Amino acid sequence: MKCRHLLSFGLMFAMMPLPIMEAEDVHLSIDASKTEARIDRNLFGQFAENLGHGLYEGIWVGPDSSIPNTRGIRNDVVAALRELKVPNVRWPGGCFADQYHWRKGIGPADKRPATVNSAWGDVIDTNVFGTDEFMDFIQQIGSTPYVSVNVGSGTPQEAAEWLEYMTAAAPTALAKERAANGHPEPYKVGFLGIGNESWDCGGAMTPDYYVSLMKVYSRFVLNMNPAQHGKDQMLKIAVGPGTPDTEWTEAVMKAWKKHTWAWDINGVSLHWYTVPNGWPPSTNSEKFGVDDYMKTLKSTLFMDEFLRKQEAVMDKYDPEKKVTLTVDEWGAWHAPLSGSNPAFLVQQNSVRDAILASLNLNIFARHADRVRMANIAQMINVLQAMILTDKEQMVLTPTYYVYKMYVPFQDAALIPIVFDAGAYTHGGASLPRVDAIAAKSTDGKLLLEITNLDAENPAVVDADLTGIVAKSAKAETLTAPSVDSTNTFESPITVTPKPAAVKLQNGKLSLTVAPRSLTVVSIEP
Ligand code: AHR
Repeated sequence: MKCRHLLSFGLMFAMMPLPIMEAEDVHLSIDASKTEARIDRNLFGQFAENLGHGLYEGIWVGPDSSIPNTRGIRNDVVAALRELKVPNVRWPGGCFADQYHWRKGIGPADKRPATVNSAWGDVIDTNVFGTDEFMDFIQQIGSTPYVSVNVGSGTPQEAAEWLEYMTAAAPTALAKERAANGHPEPYKVGFLGIGNESWDCGGAMTPDYYVSLMKVYSRFVLNMNPAQHGKDQMLKIAVGPGTPDTEWTEAVMKAWKKHTWAWDINGVSLHWYTVPNGWPPSTNSEKFGVDDYMKTLKSTLFMDEFLRKQEAVMDKYDPEKKVTLTVDEWGAWHAPLSGSNPAFLVQQNSVRDAILASLNLNIFARHADRVRMANIAQMINVLQAMILTDKEQMVLTPTYYVYKMYVPFQDAALIPIVFDAGAYTHGGASLPRVDAIAAKSTDGKLLLEITNLDAENPAVVDADLTGIVAKSAKAETLTAPSVDSTNTFESPITVTPKPAAVKLQNGKLSLTVAPRSLTVVSIEP
């Protein structure tokens, strides 16, 4: 245990030497001249399923709503999401995707049939948020669509026609229909999901049965947008595993190895949620203590092993890493908030979730040579959301701020770092004390992220910087008084990023990171 004074950490604190008890040193070595894989911006993707209040109320309020909107889409939500530079949004599911029939969601809103959302609570779906509304939302937030087509209860023809509706230029009949619905220009569809969890809600298929269907969908579900031929082509993502065993990945990759001109896939998806006590999810998302925090973070760190297992299979069939591992559903899945519809998957979002998010993003970054896309579940009002809404109110969650702090990491080049994570022990459980990644941003800055998992003690961090002549550094930290601190409609800014003191001298960077925090340091060469 050491006792240090913040006096040495910059002018800001020159007049207030605060003793920090318990802080211990963490040493990092960073050679900024050595860069590895690109941290693909698509790792910061989102997921917006037709589930609960994810779309309806979260995004869509309708053009006649008193909530300020543009063509029915909430202005406050759009403005907040634009700040995150969301690279892609997966829609319409999830389990919902395999029961969605796209034709019910186009044309005049008052002519669209009402259906039952039997995937999520048997609620009535008006279908007023359909393809053109989703594309409008994507355009408003400046993102790219990731559309999951219906393999479970649809047909290759239905999916092919949907793609034609979205991407063909006139004069095809479906392109004309889209134009008649107000959208003459073809949309760009960046990613195509061939089904969802086909081993479970997507049709309880065997791997071989799915692989046969995957080939047919890959062959016939085509992007017809002339602007996407060649470099900007749509990437096709096959269903992958949802459990750590590798049977499903084996089947998909074995087939891929023998693919011909007639079909191809560019990614295999993986779904893995943090559910520390197993199914059904039972952790509280508010009012919990350090024991729960420890258990949840321990459970989330399994993501690294899960990825390694799948990567080993992919490396066997694809050593050149052409096929990406796409973690298109991940995040904390807690018990539904009391009083909410359990089928709507409503939960609060705390400092614990923020740290969980940073740990997973760091894991993805370390696997960036194979993991080039990920989608947190989900965007608004569902599971580990960025944003919570209640009628005209909106609150940004701690996870939202993590994504905001990580924006500079989009497309940055990973820099290997060496550090001793140490251990944080509490109540007989143990976690790594700190986690960290470094990267070179697209505008040439050296970025460093440090997560302090220790719920009680700060950490004094020293980093040796080589391969860069560092001129200045600034840092931002996200933390709050306790592991279960949240942002609520009544107190919306309990957990928000704040500037942090950082010292740069003789190629050495020093800062003290708060307990239960994550900090992003940006260093100017
Ligand atoms: O994100 C909620 C659900 O979790 C998705 O619909 C499904 O794919 C997964 O099981």
